[in-house]
Amino acid sequence: MSLFLKKPIEQILKQAADSEKGLKRTLGAGNLIALGIGAIIGAGLFVRTAAAAGEAAGPAVTLSFIVAAVGCAFAGLCYAEFASMIPIAGSAYAYSYVTMGELIAWIIGWALIMEYALGAATVSIAWSEYLNKLFDGAIPYEWSHSPFESFTDSGGIHHSGIMNAPALVILLALTLLLIKGTQESAFVNAIIVFVKVAIVILFIALGWQYINPANHIPYMIPEGAEPVKDQAGKIIADYSGWNKHGWGGVLGGAAIVFFAFIGFDAVSTAAQEAKQPKRDMPIGILGSLAVCTILYILFGHVLTGVAPWKDFVDPEKGREASVAYTISTYMHDYQWLATAVTVAILAGFSSVILVMLMGQSRIFYTMSNDGLIPKAFGVLHPKYKTPYMANWILFVFVGAFGAFVPGHVAGDLTSFGTLFAFVLVSIGVWILRVKSPEIERPFRVPFAPVVSVLGALICLAMIVGLDSQTLKVAFIWMAVGLVVYFGYSRSRSKLRSYADILPTADDFEKNNPQ
Ligand code: ALA
Repeated sequence: MSLFLKKPIEQILKQAADSEKGLKRTLGAGNLIALGIGAIIGAGLFVRTAAAAGEAAGPAVTLSFIVAAVGCAFAGLCYAEFASMIPIAGSAYAYSYVTMGELIAWIIGWALIMEYALGAATVSIAWSEYLNKLFDGAIPYEWSHSPFESFTDSGGIHHSGIMNAPALVILLALTLLLIKGTQESAFVNAIIVFVKVAIVILFIALGWQYINPANHIPYMIPEGAEPVKDQAGKIIADYSGWNKHGWGGVLGGAAIVFFAFIGFDAVSTAAQEAKQPKRDMPIGILGSLAVCTILYILFGHVLTGVAPWKDFVDPEKGREASVAYTISTYMHDYQWLATAVTVAILAGFSSVILVMLMGQSRIFYTMSNDGLIPKAFGVLHPKYKTPYMANWILFVFVGAFGAFVPGHVAGDLTSFGTLFAFVLVSIGVWILRVKSPEIERPFRVPFAPVVSVLGALICLAMIVGLDSQTLKVAFIWMAVGLVVYFGYSRSRSKLRSYADILPTADDFEKNNPQ
């Protein structure tokens, strides 16, 4: 039987109508933009901007933001078309089940685990960095870093990580919260969004006067830039690779800061709650992207202007908690701001982790209902009615990454998973336009083939810009996914077992000639 068996779109729309009874169309464009910003601003901005500047792009991290934003805008338009047409939970996984068939849907679902689960792990590691900064570094290096991290300090003492305990603690706390089903009310979300945006604007406005123009020259990392070494002479940043200097570095930086945009696709999952999806979805998705892009460029400009970008690779300077470091080291009149920023960032990170854990458990839930992963992922808590088994399994998985894997590794894998899903969604929109032009599309991507091809190409370019080590691990992850699919999921697929009696999308097309 075909690997490309598709869920009939009528079946999925009926499921959507059944499962979403009771959801009210209450969200306007402004609410959707706030939802997007709430999910978007997090570790990507407050940790990875500095990493991208220090490791690949230098002050030209501002250009990296533009490249990443353009790729996201094109992919975002494609998400908006799907979201308005197939308004169901499960995001890109569900869209591709309809358009490109089960195998591709599985591959996207598997890649989305990287986006959401590893995304949550990455932000938990960033949370640990800022917590340690709040306590003036009181948490020992050994207990706040993975076993793959080490460095020799200026006193010649060598430190090796054992496990990142604070990352594990925040993940546990938020998992328990999710199991209890505590709903983040719109009000709390609005406060967190307000605080996050206020902190970013405050940093830009106050930091502007501390910009040292010399830090912006040269604007890109020059070819042949000296590597950065620690006290023991170990190289901790090397700029010889094609994606570590010049324009290649801008692309490498885009792949790193791309993480900062992840989350705008969360807006698409609220399609069925939008008052006027046709008008509001694109405004919500593109509006939140536009606001964040402007803030990010200004933020990158100020950060690399106030502190020299090489500070951001030095473990004894600004490699961790870069914003708090920059304020406390270079903005002497604003020490209070470093503490305020740290507290706000900790709250902001928590909401991003929560959204990601929730998103992942929704995807697990949908995949389990489709029979592609074990039933345990779909079991609801008898009292709280939340998919608590999925939450616990997720905690073990995400916790292992948070505690034992370095943040940049988890973050780059997150970017890979998301970019990969974006490529397939961009192509999927085009495929469905050609194969099923008759389906009603409340929102249509303008200049469809051009936008979807450019979206796919820019995201592909960012994948290529990722570290070669990341790409190796990502391909191993995707290969494991295929083994699981052919060894387990394929034979258990509910759609597959009912395929003989259910009409397929092709049957529908045959029976409803234009
Ligand atoms: N965009 C989110 C962040 O930066 C994932 O934390």
